[in-house]
Amino acid sequence: MKAIVLAGGAGSRLYPLTKVSSKQLQAVFDKPMIYYPLTVLIASGINELCVISTAQDLQRYKDLLGDGRQWGVEIQYREQSTPEGIAQAFLIAADFIASDAVILMLGDNIFSGGDDFPRAVSGFTDGATIFAYHVKDPERYGVVEFDRNGKAISIEEKPRHPKSSYAVPGVYIYDNNVLEIARAVKPSVRGELEITDVNLEYLRRGKLQVRRLSRGFAWLDAGTSTALHEASSYIEAIERRQGIKIGCPEEAALVRGFLNIGQFEALIDRMPTCEYSAYLRGVADEWHRLQGHDQ
Ligand code: G1P
Repeated sequence: MKAIVLAGGAGSRLYPLTKVSSKQLQAVFDKPMIYYPLTVLIASGINELCVISTAQDLQRYKDLLGDGRQWGVEIQYREQSTPEGIAQAFLIAADFIASDAVILMLGDNIFSGGDDFPRAVSGFTDGATIFAYHVKDPERYGVVEFDRNGKAISIEEKPRHPKSSYAVPGVYIYDNNVLEIARAVKPSVRGELEITDVNLEYLRRGKLQVRRLSRGFAWLDAGTSTALHEASSYIEAIERRQGIKIGCPEEAALVRGFLNIGQFEALIDRMPTCEYSAYLRGVADEWHRLQGHDQ
């Protein structure tokens, strides 16, 4: 399976933070926002990734993430010259997806906890798998309605009167039919190729699976300055309490075997002395300690 991270948009709700820096490059506590979705993808075992951003911001992502080799993955880049909705990502990255299945993540979605995504990726066969998360303000999102048996029966994009409290987070897994489906989607009233319309087509075909994310799972929004601050506070609190980091691609790459311990330590050697590299040193020490126990 391949992965796309969509990091477009003007980030106007974060102005002036986004005047010279892209939204998905903003700090969420101790890392750039895009590290969080990237880590979820790497932790799910995906090593072919494509980052989509605007002409203005693409170079910044290249500077930050390079070709992915440092993490044992491949990162390609595609430009979204005009923002025409989430489903446009499939048209832009069609040659990257080629004949594979694909997972799309929105670059401003931050998740913490559980192994729901790695499990969904490894268990994926065909159709579409999306997720549902209970929220207080469903009208801001795509909203999924379930019947008595827990089967999804409708999805509406930002409905004025939501039929449930279950919002659809920005993680979508599709088989290769998504290319054909996205090509047929027509712009909505707000002028966008809506991801909800892609999901509705899978629903019509009887090929949509909606998985409810468990209670302990955190899906954080980073769309406004207040939400960004809250997301930072949440990540900081969990990291301080547990002594483990959320959204650390290097660590995910080591755990997944994309980097061996030698490559992982060489990567740390190239980092400045800072809390982040000190944390990774701790991860390497723990790795050696566990190896010692094996012998
Ligand atoms: C988009 C989708 C919406 C989804 C949300 C998740 O909303 O259109 O269905 O629930 O992302 O973050 P937008 O970013 O356009 O507000």
